[in-house]
Amino acid sequence: MCGIVGYVGLPEKSGEHQALDVLVEGLRRLEYRGYDSAGVATVSGGVVQVRKKSGKLGNLLAEIEAAPVGPAQVGIGHTRWATHGGPTDVNAHPHVGDSGRLAVIHNGIIENFAQLRQRLLAEGFEFASETDTEVAAKLIGRFFAGEAAGDLTAAMRLAVNELEGAFTLLAVHADAPDRVVAARRNSPLVVGLGEGENFLGSDVSGFIDFTREAVELEQDQIVTITSSEVEIINFDGTPAQGRRFYVDWDASAAEKGGFPTFMEKEIHEQPKAVEDTLLGRTDAEGRLVLDELRIDPEELKATTKIIVLACGTAAYAGLVAKYAIEHWTRIPVEVELAHEFRYRDPIIDETTLVVSISQSGETMDTLMAVRYAKEQGARTLSICNTNGSTIPRESDAVLYLHAGPEIAVASTKAFLAMIAASYLLGLYLGQLRGQLFSGQIADILADLHSVPGKIQQILDDAEQIKALARQMADTPSVLFLGRHVGYPVALEGALKLKELAYIHAEGFAAGELKHGPIALIEEGQPVFVVVPSPHGRYSLHSKVVSNIQEVRARGARTITVAEEGDEAVQDYSETVFHVPGTQPLLMPLLTTVPLQIFACALASEKGYDVDQPRNLAKSVTVE
Ligand code: M6R
Repeated sequence: MCGIVGYVGLPEKSGEHQALDVLVEGLRRLEYRGYDSAGVATVSGGVVQVRKKSGKLGNLLAEIEAAPVGPAQVGIGHTRWATHGGPTDVNAHPHVGDSGRLAVIHNGIIENFAQLRQRLLAEGFEFASETDTEVAAKLIGRFFAGEAAGDLTAAMRLAVNELEGAFTLLAVHADAPDRVVAARRNSPLVVGLGEGENFLGSDVSGFIDFTREAVELEQDQIVTITSSEVEIINFDGTPAQGRRFYVDWDASAAEKGGFPTFMEKEIHEQPKAVEDTLLGRTDAEGRLVLDELRIDPEELKATTKIIVLACGTAAYAGLVAKYAIEHWTRIPVEVELAHEFRYRDPIIDETTLVVSISQSGETMDTLMAVRYAKEQGARTLSICNTNGSTIPRESDAVLYLHAGPEIAVASTKAFLAMIAASYLLGLYLGQLRGQLFSGQIADILADLHSVPGKIQQILDDAEQIKALARQMADTPSVLFLGRHVGYPVALEGALKLKELAYIHAEGFAAGELKHGPIALIEEGQPVFVVVPSPHGRYSLHSKVVSNIQEVRARGARTITVAEEGDEAVQDYSETVFHVPGTQPLLMPLLTTVPLQIFACALASEKGYDVDQPRNLAKSVTVE
């Protein structure tokens, strides 16, 4: 949840990067991971200097301006999403140990911190904060001054072997002034390689302004960086190697690019996100080629059941995937919230394909569920946007989205890219199993390739949606209805409104309405309805039109998202947002977009920060 950055440059490299500038830039980019408080520690002249402040990064910058730190080439920085202890100045990281000569930052939760704290208290240590992190700081400091004899890497190793839970820890010490030492277990950490300088970050955006050469670490490893060296060991002290990779986007991709917010930029990047996700995945004959899947096609062919695991928006993408994959492959697909999955004794064997979907690749609930599925013998495939992240690394296969960095905390472009990638997977499995003819696949792919242009049309024509959002700024509650693939879209529309505008919003399967939720309808209640294509099967369209009439008859304000040319909804809708048509299964790539624009515009109208909504963090790296 928290954002972590570390830096070591060449000593006295005056005029080049100063640690503080690098740290602040990194924190600015990582702030989406948590923004309850921020802090830095720098090392120079035999002293560790700590500055920290509750609230957003701006508060820390004001603090530093009021009490500047001197020039330094070594430092660590942190932006926090509070777990243990409220978001106060005292609980902000870094925390100190060894009489203030050591500073530590942390992401994750140390589960045995209470026992360790008791032990350290009994030894005479004093604690300033309520955090679990301070326990780690005292422990590392104790080892540094004792058993590790001034070796910061050894002190970190001794300490982490006493910790339980999930953590990325970074430490600097005044008596080891040329290095930052870091450790990771179940929590993200990436190394950035520079010339005469090296970096650490929760993800590559922490150092993307300075280098695109990166190293991914394995589970339970410690890395020591100096200006010229990167040394990795396992928690048992044995030497280890990381995997080098090159970041395929640059700093400009993580800028607002002329948009007032990242959220608006990312909504507008959706045509490209979908296009790039589809790119290069067919051969000259138009056959789907997913070489990167790394699972033997024969094993994939033998799949008897697919379980999709994800959380939040990614789980809604998984629900869309279910409709498409079952239809195209005839393989049963279950979709489950990752945090529920492993606590219910699920039925899995080696013919089960577990597909995890995650933008960050670091969501702890999803990661733990994937590990559990692997232990049970399932094949695991990750649909993910973040290269170098844990879930794809630990999965048997990966299908990367190419949506580019998603900075706004609430997910938009990754959602559409996840859906597009799920379609590719479904078509690929259908192709492998001979369930789909090549002509059918070609038709669907052709329609998919026409989607980005259609999303662009919706974006170009968004004024009507924004006007409605401005007009509805005071509404206390909004309901969303959908059927078939429109159901997950309704869920996502409601989630976006909750996250961005803090409005009570619920998504329902429209068919469920009469089974209870219709009791919520009263005069003036706004109800968004995602209307299926009038050209689809099963008369779903007419059923949804009936649902619209039912709520309207009870006083609801009906706002519909319907395919261009769908005249039937006109008479029952206060407002209709028309979207271009495509195959019914592909419609979520289009019908979602007006709902995202609506939520973003309404939140902006209320003056809320759409990039960093309250209480949220971009990647949830604690269970
Ligand atoms: O990084 P992930 O896709 O695994 O994240 C999953 C959810 O935490 C995420 O989608 C969350 O629901 C967002 N706040 C949605 O906007």
